[in-house]
Amino acid sequence: MKNTKQTALIYRVMMSLLDVEQLDEALSGTLDIILESLSCELGAVWLLDEESGMLKCVISAGEVDLTEISVENGIGAEGIATLTGQSVSKPAIEGAISADGCIFDEVGVKTRTLLCVPLNTTKKYIGCIAVANKTSGEFYTAEELDLLEKTAALAALTIEEKGLILPNHKHGRTIISLRDIRKDYSSGDTVLHVLKGINLDIYENEFVVVLGESGCGKSTMMNIIGGMDYPTSGTLIVEDKDFSHPTEKQLTDYRRDYLGFIFQSYNLMPNLTARENIRFIAEITKDPLPVDEAIRLVGLEERAGNYPSQMSGGQQQRVSIARALVKNPKMILADEPTAALDFQTGQEVLRVIERIVKEKGTTVIMITHNVEIAKMAHRVVKLRNGQISSIKTNLSPLSADEISW
Ligand SMILES: Nc1ncnc2c1ncn2[C@@H]1O[C@H](COP(=O)(O)OP(=O)(O)OP(=O)(O)O)[C@@H](O)[C@H]1O
Ligand SMILES: [Mg+2]
Repeated sequence: MKNTKQTALIYRVMMSLLDVEQLDEALSGTLDIILESLSCELGAVWLLDEESGMLKCVISAGEVDLTEISVENGIGAEGIATLTGQSVSKPAIEGAISADGCIFDEVGVKTRTLLCVPLNTTKKYIGCIAVANKTSGEFYTAEELDLLEKTAALAALTIEEKGLILPNHKHGRTIISLRDIRKDYSSGDTVLHVLKGINLDIYENEFVVVLGESGCGKSTMMNIIGGMDYPTSGTLIVEDKDFSHPTEKQLTDYRRDYLGFIFQSYNLMPNLTARENIRFIAEITKDPLPVDEAIRLVGLEERAGNYPSQMSGGQQQRVSIARALVKNPKMILADEPTAALDFQTGQEVLRVIERIVKEKGTTVIMITHNVEIAKMAHRVVKLRNGQISSIKTNLSPLSADEISW
């Protein structure tokens, strides 16, 4: 039985690696299968940057995001595995060096159990895979170590064979920080804990997609970021300033000048043309874009004189994006903007969002249920039951034209 299970897992990893063309795809697919099969709470993939000699976290799964962390090679269980090519475990098991500490511990997550195995190509050690905290609370076994070593070797050989490389990924400065954000709703005697301690940084000029099952707290988190709802506790930092208890004036300025909103429903004024809908918002904004520039950015030059009822869903959504854009916001918050649209019109909208991030440098946070859209994001934040379950950096995001559903 044991051998069949092992072979089945290795077969799954092998199949998932067959068609991959991107390094991050190879690694995140492998990590996902490992985490599921060994039922671990945490996982991370580290790669060695030979130029700097630093070990960089490229994929991270679990309650903390390690993807911005670099450490000197040789540090912690991860560094030992990468430097020596030997597996490391906690507590000690046969076939592995016993670890004192690992980088999960450094960032404040308590690791009870850990396995860390090197990524070995035929020539060198390129990094490692670390998993921690079996959900059952049990220790890892020597068989599981063996399995992890084999799957890591498969991933490393695929990387070598296909010549997949690590693009130089840099992010902009942090514009928004959420620290231990909690939100409770009470109804009668019961209290509903909707957000249970969210920690998240949002960077300048990035496209973040938020995924998660219905009711897990996505809109609640977005509304708190957007100043439309207050957290029960925790800190919201905007542009390095504490924004947890803003005054009415600060809040109004923030929503009016700093943010643009897009929702599933377009909320256009039916008796105004597309251009008039956009101009109306421009007139109440401090530093608006020229209306024609907003119209150009969403590709509606030909349709600007039409009324909403004369436009398709995708076109109406583009008007609502132009209305958000004309405010020249630093950040656009989009709550399921393509949910009501079919593939073609949804893709039109995504092309516009892609262009805004590229041409205007706007940060976009977008909630969706569509995992295909997540492939376009720089980072994908997954929420589960009011907590962040993973944050992944897409090293090679796809363009709107490359995705389909
Ligand atoms: N004002 C409110 N009062 C009481 N409960 C609320 C309130 N707003 C949201 N909730 C509850 O909080 C939970 C999270 O809601 P939220 O709208 O954030 O989920 P979501 O992840 O956006 O879901 P969906 O994908 O369906 O939009 C749900 O259980 C919801 O019923
Ligand atoms: Mg929602």
